[in-house]
Amino acid sequence: MSSLLILFLTCLVGNSFSAIEVIQNGTYVLDYSLINNETLVVKATVETLGWVGVGLSQTENMAGADIILGGVNENGEEYIGDYFALGNSRPIEDIINNILTYNVTENATHTTLSFTRLADTGDIDEDLPVSRSTYIIWAYHDTDSFAHHGVVNRGSIPLSL
Ligand code: HEM
Ligand SMILES: *[C@@H]1O[C@H](CO)[C@@H](O)[C@H](O)[C@H]1NC(C)=O
Ligand SMILES: *[C@@H]1O[C@H](CO)[C@@H](O)[C@H](O)[C@H]1NC(C)=O
Ligand SMILES: *[C@@H]1O[C@H](CO)[C@@H](O)[C@H](O)[C@H]1NC(C)=O
Ligand SMILES: *[C@@H]1O[C@H](CO)[C@@H](O)[C@H](O)[C@H]1NC(C)=O
Repeated sequence: MSSLLILFLTCLVGNSFSAIEVIQNGTYVLDYSLINNETLVVKATVETLGWVGVGLSQTENMAGADIILGGVNENGEEYIGDYFALGNSRPIEDIINNILTYNVTENATHTTLSFTRLADTGDIDEDLPVSRSTYIIWAYHDTDSFAHHGVVNRGSIPLSL
């Protein structure tokens, strides 16, 4: 995929891993770390004023993926939630929200979503532990309506933790 440029950088510091992925020529930049094999820290900086999604998946697909979806709406209100995707359709919000801490910000051009969660949340019905995930899936939209991202503004990268 020519529009997908991935620059890849991995560091190993003690028992913690981190990686930066530059996706779609910098339109979507993902910075993620696993601290002490316990806490997952994720930051997605995306050139959009709409929603931003990032998920853990055992395949390269949406179906079965554990997703965090958020943004800042037209009234300037931030939103973020813990979701699960059953298929190629709008993800379903989890009954249990396993996001520990987060920030969502938006400026004139970019939305930044950052959050922490446990590597294994223990929510076996609605989340995937990092240890059983193979890919990170990513997507975004230019509006805050949870509509289809289209075939360009989505993709997957191997998880490197
Ligand atoms: C917000 C509502 C969403 C809708 C209605 C939706 C719908 C769809 C549809 C119809 C497809 C198949 C067509 C295509 O290839 O683009 C698809 C594929 C895909 N979506 Fe979504 N999606 C949504 C959110 C997300 C989110 C939040 C992510 C990632 C965090 C994501 C990741 C993907 C990926 C990686 C594919 C291609 C692989 C596959 O077919 O599963 N989607 N989605
Ligand atoms: C990627 O971004 C650079 C700098 O903005 C630009 O020169 C280049 O044409 C872009 N490449 C693609 C494939 O969009
Ligand atoms: C908006 O945020 C992006 C991502 O953090 C940053 O690169 C850009 O410089 C910011 N724009 C302004 C006008 O501050
Ligand atoms: C949110 O922002 C605060 C203040 O800058 C910072 O201390 C905190 O670590 C951030 N949390 C996340 C999950 O990025
Ligand atoms: C990291 O934690 C997972 C459980 O989340 C466990 O299965 C795995 O063995 C741990 N790995 C190491 C190197 O401690």
